[in-house]
Amino acid sequence: MLIHSALLALGATLAAAVQPLEVQGEYFINPKTGNRFQIVGVAYQPGGSAGYNEENGRDPLSDADICMRDAALLQILGVNTIRVYNVNPDVNHDECVSIFNAAGMYIILDVNSPLVGDSLTSFNPWESYYAAYLNRTFAVVEAFKDYPNTLAFFSGNEVINDEQSGADVPPYMRAVTRDLKNYVKKHASRPIPVGYSAADVRDILFDSYNYFQCSLEGDKDDMSKGDLFALNSYSWCGESSFEEASYDDLVSGFEGTSVPIFFSEFGCNDVSPRIFTEVGTIYGSQMTGVFSGGVVYEYTQEKNNYGLVSMNEDGSAKLMPDFRNLEKQYSKLDFATIQGQKPPSESNTKPPVCSTKLITTDNFNNNFTLPVPPPGAQKIIDDGVKPAPKGKLVEISDWKVKFTVKDTDGSTITNLEVKPLTDDEINSPGSNTGSGSSSGSTDGTTSGGTDSGDDENAAPGLAARILPAVAMGSLALLANVAF
Ligand SMILES: *[C@@H]1O[C@H](CO)[C@@H](O)[C@H](O)[C@H]1NC(C)=O
Ligand SMILES: *[C@@H]1O[C@H](CO)[C@@H](O)[C@H](O)[C@H]1NC(C)=O
Repeated sequence: MLIHSALLALGATLAAAVQPLEVQGEYFINPKTGNRFQIVGVAYQPGGSAGYNEENGRDPLSDADICMRDAALLQILGVNTIRVYNVNPDVNHDECVSIFNAAGMYIILDVNSPLVGDSLTSFNPWESYYAAYLNRTFAVVEAFKDYPNTLAFFSGNEVINDEQSGADVPPYMRAVTRDLKNYVKKHASRPIPVGYSAADVRDILFDSYNYFQCSLEGDKDDMSKGDLFALNSYSWCGESSFEEASYDDLVSGFEGTSVPIFFSEFGCNDVSPRIFTEVGTIYGSQMTGVFSGGVVYEYTQEKNNYGLVSMNEDGSAKLMPDFRNLEKQYSKLDFATIQGQKPPSESNTKPPVCSTKLITTDNFNNNFTLPVPPPGAQKIIDDGVKPAPKGKLVEISDWKVKFTVKDTDGSTITNLEVKPLTDDEINSPGSNTGSGSSSGSTDGTTSGGTDSGDDENAAPGLAARILPAVAMGSLALLANVAF
């Protein structure tokens, strides 16, 4: 019903929409309020990368019933952003994106996939930098650029993770970022930021950061400069502190940044269930001057045991203790204040000029001469992907969750549904308590079972998925180049 009142308010917008965000200097800004935006995010890839399969016509944003279930649960948690790692640009995402949008959530998308040819490789990156690969990344841009809640694109995730990849990959990664930015500039109606998501391997982290945030000519509009920089960081485990988790080094290392910085993954599970004591620090005064929040890894429980919610094949689900623990930490925060911060009026965000001096590790690449776009790529940038998959918000008529969801204690959560927010509203803790709605319907908890028909090819929820890369405690790294 709420939908109908908002229907056609602006011609094309069906559901109330979040306000598209902008990057201004080192912050994400909501242009309507002028406030900074702190990412309160969760990594969202049900089925894991092993469950991603280009043939089955599905990806994490293709099944509206599943998205409804998960958007409702994420609303209870209070998150405002999901990060999705692998999408198929050619499947329809309209319903899922409209659901997350109405639930007040932005989406950060990785443009790559674990399939061969769908990402820049850590090893011999020149062999994976070709037009068909770029076409795929541009197709992801096409598929998501028209949604108001598309927050950013990751041009790569942990492609640089050791000395060898640090020697070879940076010019190629920067070239992919450039190509994507050129594509966005030419074909999107707003400047959706593009940047890199790094492994928190401390000895090369700041070289990666500097390599991508510097400007070739010293100006902000350098098309190969990252628009943001993110890191997957697992250095805070259990009860820790700003200093013990070496977050202090991160803050001092990124101080004075010219681009937004955030955790594209966090949530060490050396101590399990996790207690997420880092949340108070990430959104506290020691961090927020430099950081713009972070993304908890990860929504779905998989073999690697990082899940907030455990899924069953029939669509039913159960909250993990981590879910309620994270919720508890979020609810201690004052999000009105956190999301109400103004950027400093005088912000000094000039990027450094690219130079060998910025790179401190011996073998890390310090040559800023980038490869030119591979044969055929410039034509795709100029003319656009053909055929271009286009996305748009659509009307959602029923916000009820169709699957049974059990709480940590085994009791069923009744009347679970997404609570659509009003225009421009962003989700925060408390917008959805998960208990009964005014509609008084009990249909929301009808058991699932409708989701199994198209499942033959899908990896089960607990499909073996080796973590893309988790710098376990010590910051050592398990790399998965394909991710
Ligand atoms: C480019 O991407 C589109 C959308 O996925 C696809 O239909 C088309 O075949 C691709 N073209 C090339 C040359 O790879
Ligand atoms: C930098 O890279 C370019 C392109 O690969 C190459 O031509 C040039 O010689 C390199 N410069 C140095 C100083 O190695």
